[in-house]
Amino acid sequence: MRAAEIGRRYVDFFAARDHTVVPSASLLYNDPTLLFVNAGMVPFKPYFTGAEPAPFRRAVSLQKCVRTLDIEDVGKTTRHGTFFQMLGNFSFGDYFKAEAIQWGWQLVTGSQADGCLGFDPDKVWVTVLGPGMHPDYPNGDEEAVHWWRSVGVPQERIQARSLKDNYWHMGVPGPGGPCSEIYIDRGPAFGPEGGPNADEDRFLEIWNLVFQQEELSAVRAKDDFDVARQLPSRNIDTGAGLERIAFLLQGVDNMYETDEVFPVIARASELTGRRYGANADDDVRLRVIGDHVRSSLMLMTDGVSPGNEARGYVLRRLMRRSIRSMRLLGYQGEHLTELLDVSRGVMHGSYPEIDEQWQRISEISQNEEQSFSRTLHAGTALFDLAVGQSKAAGSDVLPGDKAFQLHDTYGFPIDLTLEMAAEQGLAVDQARFRELMTEQRQRAKADARAKKGGAVSTEA
Ligand code: SER
Repeated sequence: MRAAEIGRRYVDFFAARDHTVVPSASLLYNDPTLLFVNAGMVPFKPYFTGAEPAPFRRAVSLQKCVRTLDIEDVGKTTRHGTFFQMLGNFSFGDYFKAEAIQWGWQLVTGSQADGCLGFDPDKVWVTVLGPGMHPDYPNGDEEAVHWWRSVGVPQERIQARSLKDNYWHMGVPGPGGPCSEIYIDRGPAFGPEGGPNADEDRFLEIWNLVFQQEELSAVRAKDDFDVARQLPSRNIDTGAGLERIAFLLQGVDNMYETDEVFPVIARASELTGRRYGANADDDVRLRVIGDHVRSSLMLMTDGVSPGNEARGYVLRRLMRRSIRSMRLLGYQGEHLTELLDVSRGVMHGSYPEIDEQWQRISEISQNEEQSFSRTLHAGTALFDLAVGQSKAAGSDVLPGDKAFQLHDTYGFPIDLTLEMAAEQGLAVDQARFRELMTEQRQRAKADARAKKGGAVSTEA
């Protein structure tokens, strides 16, 4: 089943149950605590906290999301994507656990002929908040267990877990609550028995049902936060990973091989002459390209341009990691705009705004690729020399002074130096690098004060 079809089925299912269909917000949705929208609930946050009255009691959406915290894992696991689409149904003080669980079960296990997803009910596992984790749930989330049992999930496939796994918040102050997650067992070939507690690759989480009931005033970790108050209403916030469902239903091994990502990998493979599936390291690089090209396309569509700070820097890093991966696969020619165009071909059906922005996107991409080529060309000789010197001296660390020089003279962001050094088996003396950066910043400030002008940021 194509990814777009999965999205359509989900939205139709909840629309038929009186949910207002809300189009995806921009990735740059204005929330001061976030760089990018990273969950389907972000645009609804004011309705959950009661800061604004909800214009509807129920909503359903397919939301564009970007998360780059796990960028190093992209391509290496089955499921880490920097861009992904989150399907969600939401209740603002309307229905609660019973309906969320019953509908979740029905959509996941109902037959495809009836418009549902058709997963085998015997392969479904669920998790709930366990006993002794939360003052409101001394015996664990018994209500969630009750509703899962009532739809037919056997007790042995309901696992109790800690706050770390089964309490959801935004990672910053905001709404939160216990949650219950739906997993699909991919089978013994993918890992040991024992449910999600034993292995989260074999047992793949596809859907998180959050029972929003509290507002948090401080968040220090997933399981370490302060509760300010109970929310004015009990709400439902669910998030299902479209890419994860797609890879299960398309019978492929990971999210990069789904219909909305793989065409970029296929074209990169043609250009480089490296066959996907022939070599594990090449495959990781091809998957990085597939993922990063799509994320770059979606970020540029929503108005981001490459730069040295914040959002622009995230985009620049994605574009540059993808260009470097092509080079490491042996392809030196320009290619980024072509790959972006391949991604456009599979994404614009769901996001027509890509076509409206295409002219701008292709210009930005050409400029960025050319300027990065110049940066690499200029800095690589110094980098290679520094690596040679470290190795000759028997050291496995690249000096911070060299990293600083690469940054200051050749515009190598530290991430690039770190990645290139790691490929050579070297670490980087980051403490020394930061020291030099701080000294430079202080010099710039002193200079600016002397001139009575504004300090120039040297962040990169
Ligand atoms: N907010 C929850 C999540 O992101 C469910 O939508 O997982």
